Amino acid sequence: MTYVIAQPCVDVKDRACVDECPVDCIYEGKRMLYIHPDECVDCGACEPVCPPEAIFYEDDTPEEWASYYDANVHFFDELGSPGGAAKLGVIDLDHPLIAELPPQNQD
Ligand code: F3S
Ligand code: F3S
Repeated sequence: MTYVIAQPCVDVKDRACVDECPVDCIYEGKRMLYIHPDECVDCGACEPVCPPEAIFYEDDTPEEWASYYDANVHFFDELGSPGGAAKLGVIDLDHPLIAELPPQNQD
């Protein structure tokens, strides 16, 4: 199991979650952040600190954002398991599901 970042993170990228993660497994893409499904230890520390409430336990992800599970998993298809997000910085990449979204307005 893992935690999943969903659509409310897109174009927001608050990054409060990054400071909470004990294993540095939340990676920054161009438009949102992604949790590495194999590196996440399910501690849950990230979930309550996200202002737009974008983070969900895998089984609790709202149906409308179910595809974000795959987006988080497949974001790492070519990256593999880097073993720490800090050293990578911002990755010049997004999963196609996110890349194709129109700009997400925040009000
Ligand atoms: Fe995104 Fe929320 Fe983290 S907006 S960067 S998932 S704190
Ligand atoms: Fe990190 Fe959140 Fe998993 S804090 S270990 S990504 S549950």
